[in-house]
Amino acid sequence: MGFPSDFVWGAAAASYQIEGGAYEDGKGLSVWDMMCRQPDKIWEGNTGAVACDHYHRGREDARLMGELGLQAYRLSTCWPRVLPEGTGAVNPKGLAFYDELVDALLENGVQPWVTLFHWDYPYALFCRGGWLNRDSVDWFADYTGVIVDRLSDRVTHWMTQNEPQCYIGLGHQTGEHAPGLRLGFEEILLATHHSLLAHGKSVQVIRARAKTPPVVGAAPVGVVKMPATTLPEDVDAARTLMFSITGKDCWNNTWFADPVVLGNYPQDGLDLFAEEMPEIRDGDMATICQPLDFYGVNIYNGQVVRADQDGAAVVQGPDGPPLTTMTWRVSPESLYWGPRFLYERYKLPVVVTENGMANTDWVHLDGKVHDSQRIDFLTRYLRAYRRAIEDGVEGKGYFQWSIMDNFEWAHGYKQRFGLVYVDFATQQRIPKDSAYWYREVIASNGATIEQP
Ligand code: FCB
Repeated sequence: MGFPSDFVWGAAAASYQIEGGAYEDGKGLSVWDMMCRQPDKIWEGNTGAVACDHYHRGREDARLMGELGLQAYRLSTCWPRVLPEGTGAVNPKGLAFYDELVDALLENGVQPWVTLFHWDYPYALFCRGGWLNRDSVDWFADYTGVIVDRLSDRVTHWMTQNEPQCYIGLGHQTGEHAPGLRLGFEEILLATHHSLLAHGKSVQVIRARAKTPPVVGAAPVGVVKMPATTLPEDVDAARTLMFSITGKDCWNNTWFADPVVLGNYPQDGLDLFAEEMPEIRDGDMATICQPLDFYGVNIYNGQVVRADQDGAAVVQGPDGPPLTTMTWRVSPESLYWGPRFLYERYKLPVVVTENGMANTDWVHLDGKVHDSQRIDFLTRYLRAYRRAIEDGVEGKGYFQWSIMDNFEWAHGYKQRFGLVYVDFATQQRIPKDSAYWYREVIASNGATIEQP
């Protein structure tokens, strides 16, 4: 069987992580620009001010993507580049950048998949309360309209937001990410409710205004639990834990996805968060729950779970697990159980919108970047994903993170996730061994992952 014939093979990146051009052509500030000005927030004081200079190299990067055989590229648009104040006046040069990028991608046979928000929130709106302000819902809807009006004659695939668990959780609760706040849980739930409403309104705008029939999803974190064995009790324990809310934080699937797909907040969360719940107005849940065409999900790893004697879930990973340089566990089975459990619960076709690893990549003496670990990693994960598809999951696509090394948020340039190596001093791009390997995977529609 293998991957379906219409399976989409792509790679992803995000505006703040690659574009640079942070202070050019009328772009407004984002919360990440401001975060990077704070001492000690980012590794070695790195910033995204230049990043991969993609703002000036979009055309050549699109050509490289074409040469590497990508069928699709998941990009994000930078809200304050297009609307410097977050709302109101449009910055024509900012919009033109995305317009030209979309053209360049299409000329190179690469389908653009656009994420409207991948964390670079307009600083001007942050000063007006940001996600705590209910007006953020309309601000995001208006911004969606600007992008859709301009790009939807050519762009058909849309994701509203990337990983609300991270920009709310890391951005507003633990403070590691922009805007660097450490709010109480009431405010976390309020900001989350607004971000969910913003997602829903954004979907409405896309569907109402797109010039070509849109395919719409989102890209939340996949918090994945993998059963230790295939015994039914272990599978049940893993599934239950994967869809449970166990703490007053954002590391769960259901608080973010149940409202979006099922139209309600999960009961265990409502019970646990009873004291901190925000006001939910009439019609809110209906606004949040818009029909979606796919469940996009970012999966990097999962936790091993087994059932104890009473059937309760116990997280139990092996000692000394293989780790990436992020110290994330190498856990290929997460790309089996993640899509499988999500498909069972939400009944939407699945697209893996991010998956990959950071590695100790450098340019070898022969001038090439030999990243055999990444090839092994991706092979294992893709085999697991293929098995999920063979077992009935409607898996529609796969986006490797990332097309090129880039600014990895608080880790700065310490972590290299790319298929393409970037020398940040010269901006030279060098496709790694994994990029050529992935080109063969794509050309064979996944058949070559059989090879060791
Ligand atoms: C995800 C983010 C993406 C990148 C990868 C490594 O959480 O969506 O921007 O940082 O992790």
